[in-house]
Amino acid sequence: MNSVPLTTCVNQLRGSIDIPGDKSISHRSIMFGAISDGKTVVTNFLTGEDCLSTIACFRKLGVHIEVDDQKVEITGKGLNGLREPTEVLDVGNSGTTIRLMLGILAGRPFYSTLIGDDSIGKRPMTRVTKPLTQMGAKIEGREDGKYTPISIRGGQLKGFNYELPVASAQVKSALLFAGLQAEGITTIYEPSKTRDHTERMIEQFGGEVEVDGQVIKIKGNQSFKGTNIHVPGDISSAAFFLVAGAIVENSEITLKNVGLNPTRTGILDVMKEMGAEVQMINVQKDAFEPVGDIIVKTSKLKGTVIEGDLIPRLIDELPVIALLATQAEGKTIIRNAEELKVKETNRIDTVVRELTTLGAKIEATDDGMIIYGKTNLVGGTVNSHGDHRIGMMLAVAALICKEKVTLENSEAIAVSYPSFFSHLGKITKT
Ligand code: S3P
Repeated sequence: MNSVPLTTCVNQLRGSIDIPGDKSISHRSIMFGAISDGKTVVTNFLTGEDCLSTIACFRKLGVHIEVDDQKVEITGKGLNGLREPTEVLDVGNSGTTIRLMLGILAGRPFYSTLIGDDSIGKRPMTRVTKPLTQMGAKIEGREDGKYTPISIRGGQLKGFNYELPVASAQVKSALLFAGLQAEGITTIYEPSKTRDHTERMIEQFGGEVEVDGQVIKIKGNQSFKGTNIHVPGDISSAAFFLVAGAIVENSEITLKNVGLNPTRTGILDVMKEMGAEVQMINVQKDAFEPVGDIIVKTSKLKGTVIEGDLIPRLIDELPVIALLATQAEGKTIIRNAEELKVKETNRIDTVVRELTTLGAKIEATDDGMIIYGKTNLVGGTVNSHGDHRIGMMLAVAALICKEKVTLENSEAIAVSYPSFFSHLGKITKT
């Protein structure tokens, strides 16, 4: 467990940052490359621990994957090229890896066992194991398939109609991976629109999917062709600097190469609503995933309400949005965000607890939180609780603290942003 002093009392943030590759898209590029025929070359791949877990799992399934500084090369041999693993598949901290892989393995006629770290052991898996079982996979897991370890024996699946009980791109994607191997059509109904990287990537790899608002239809027995993927920067990583730029005095920073897929840009909508000075430039809308640069400046902020269909569009950004709200005049209410309770940590609890330590006025509710601004953050000893996004949010909070801040469990940050501290150091002027 690493305990590190964080930089406090920052005078300004200046300069630009090349935002590292998107985590969701990096995972999917490995998965599609692994089930396609031929070579897939991925550039700007995120070499965070979560995506490396995905690579390790596919290597155990017999897929040849080479990683160097510039690119990842996957030699796919189609879905039938995946082999029964002789070892347990360890997903580490990655919910995306385990849930999406279960969808792939559901259609493969062999046996696998999946495990992860302590956090994964507490995260609900029934949301994927139940519908995949309905499609025909044989799945066993601790507490009736609720938790890891999970074992799965895949086989012939049948397409079905499924209404997602929660707005989850991970569940939707698992069912798409199963559906593309099934007999017949699988139709998925989403309660709110969630990130659509899987749908976009199916087309990129030569497959077919039909999307009509929140209804997604996929036909079975599909095959895919290897391709080249350039991963855009992760807006969920950019989020920490978006908030930092808005709350640290005298700041102006440019975040380069940020993915601007509309299913992910809820944070930009909320920041604008709160009065933040954010501007998008060099936007390329016609790329397979839209991308652009974002300029953010120190801003005068006001409270807001964040709820409903907006929640899935910014679910991973809510911890750092809570920090932003501590610097806004008036009350900010976050509701309909009960999914926060089943992320890497219970993010309602961890955000409220850690920001309270720093001096924020924030209270937990059943489905979100209420933040009263504007407050001066002071300092103290805080803890990531092993959650990368909590760790980075706290490092951004420290920038405006007047007293010493120590972050415990700082190593968690490497899950999604190994170069976070060096990027933060580059723009920090004390
Ligand atoms: C992800 C979807 C989201 C998000 C996670 C990555 C994905 O989870 O929180 O970090 O890559 O599909 P849910 O879809 O379960 O909300």
